[in-house]
Amino acid sequence: MTSEPRSLTDTDTDPVSGPPPGCPAHGLGPGGLRRLYGPDAEDLGVLYESLREEHGSVAPALLHDDVPMWVVLGHAENIHMVRSSSVYTRDSRIWTPLLDGTVKPDHPLMPHIAWQPICSHAEGDEHQRLRAAVTAAMDTIDHRSMRRHIGRYTQSLVNRFCERGRADLVSQFAEHLPMAVMCQILGMPEEYDDRMVQAARDALKGTETAIQSHTYVMEALSRLTTRRRALPDDDFTSHLVTHPAGLTDDEVREHLRLVLFAAYEATANLLANALRMVLTEPGFRAQLSGGQMTVPEAIEQSLWDEPPFSTVFGYYAKQDTELGGQRIRKGDGLLFAPAPGNLDPRIRPDLSASMQGNRSHLAFGGGPHECPGQDIGRAIADVGVDALLMRLPDVQLDCPEEDLRWRSSIASRHLVALPVRFEPKPQQDVDVAPRHGAPPVQQSGWPTGTRRSDPTPTAEPRPAVPPMPVPMPAAPEPVRGPGVWRRLMRWWRGE
Ligand code: HEM
Repeated sequence: MTSEPRSLTDTDTDPVSGPPPGCPAHGLGPGGLRRLYGPDAEDLGVLYESLREEHGSVAPALLHDDVPMWVVLGHAENIHMVRSSSVYTRDSRIWTPLLDGTVKPDHPLMPHIAWQPICSHAEGDEHQRLRAAVTAAMDTIDHRSMRRHIGRYTQSLVNRFCERGRADLVSQFAEHLPMAVMCQILGMPEEYDDRMVQAARDALKGTETAIQSHTYVMEALSRLTTRRRALPDDDFTSHLVTHPAGLTDDEVREHLRLVLFAAYEATANLLANALRMVLTEPGFRAQLSGGQMTVPEAIEQSLWDEPPFSTVFGYYAKQDTELGGQRIRKGDGLLFAPAPGNLDPRIRPDLSASMQGNRSHLAFGGGPHECPGQDIGRAIADVGVDALLMRLPDVQLDCPEEDLRWRSSIASRHLVALPVRFEPKPQQDVDVAPRHGAPPVQQSGWPTGTRRSDPTPTAEPRPAVPPMPVPMPAAPEPVRGPGVWRRLMRWWRGE
């Protein structure tokens, strides 16, 4: 049901006294609005659906300190907003609650709110200048060698735990792989270690040591900027430094920070979510092992069902307007919300239906700010999950599914841990393509990248001159799906 057009600052309920105890509205904030924080917001997914029921595709709600904000719940409304740059901006400096002092400097969401000199907050010519440098630097990334690096890092991470037969795929895999790959892409592979992963995790969680951890990461990025300014190389940072847009050292550092944190957090979430789905959802597992679904398709389904960023903070109205039947005033703030937007019943009347082949989810945003790193995020997830499942084909969840825990914030929802078990496996050379780790015969391997129904013959002739010798697997080999050889070769070539 869509409510009558109303303004975000309208107050239907006495903001001071509020509803009496026992009233169903008890627990609501000023204006009878729902809070996106605190005890009433423990399950934001449920809360978004209540808001959709009550208000339709755009709902008024309250952030911490009861600061008003629209939540955009509809798929079409989210797309319309991010594409309408003449009406909405990402520059928070026009946000009314910030201008009138309702949002205090110590507001818990300030790191998301405060304007910074980065492309995410810029618009118009300035956005184009900064974004052009970022996308040009990304365009220089050689995707074949990047995929090879992803495969190698996956191999070495799996080597760390494969002999134990047990692992936590969040802290030992999903949180490491994106950091290792991003340090390589940025041009500081030597900075990737447990300390860097821990610092990034800590900085994003906002613990007492968050500032220290943030400083640790920023110091590494500053050293890198200085080194590449003095002597450019052929990496992302060097191309950012030398781009004709003429970024200052501060701008380079801030964009390295943006890219590193965005990539780390979002891709770690995507990996963990996709692995969780593969391990716990019987339909998923059956489709993967039955060959009706490939790993990239599983990743895409995960981007629909659990987008790594549930919401993106924020968009601000540059003029009075209307969205989803609501009256939006100049200076109002709106949450771009991929999580509820992807579940909009108008585009997904049946949530259990597969979205295979449909990439119109909101996980990477849209419009001028659409994520420029999505191919990198997808590659890390595709190659990482594929290679991990090749190494551990018998991997299973090591706890009841109900024991899995999430940590939620407005911006994202992280799986805390994903404990798994498998038959212990020997280490493998990180420089060769992953191969099945000799599971018991009845637990045949996952046809991870190729559909089992592919008419590809099992035994393919070797190419005349293979780029590198691909070692034959140690005996005995588990049963493999057709096309594995071709897939190994493709993987090795970084395709
Ligand atoms: C699964 C992985 C990822 C997801 C889900 C994701 C999602 C997003 C989203 C939702 C936005 C905001 C769009 C908007 O404001 O409308 C964004 C922006 C951005 N992302 Fe990603 N991202 C991912 C990976 C990456 C990677 C790997 C990189 C860099 C290598 C990256 C770099 C950026 C940058 C620079 C922006 C700001 C663009 C702008 O404002 O013009 N992201 N991303």
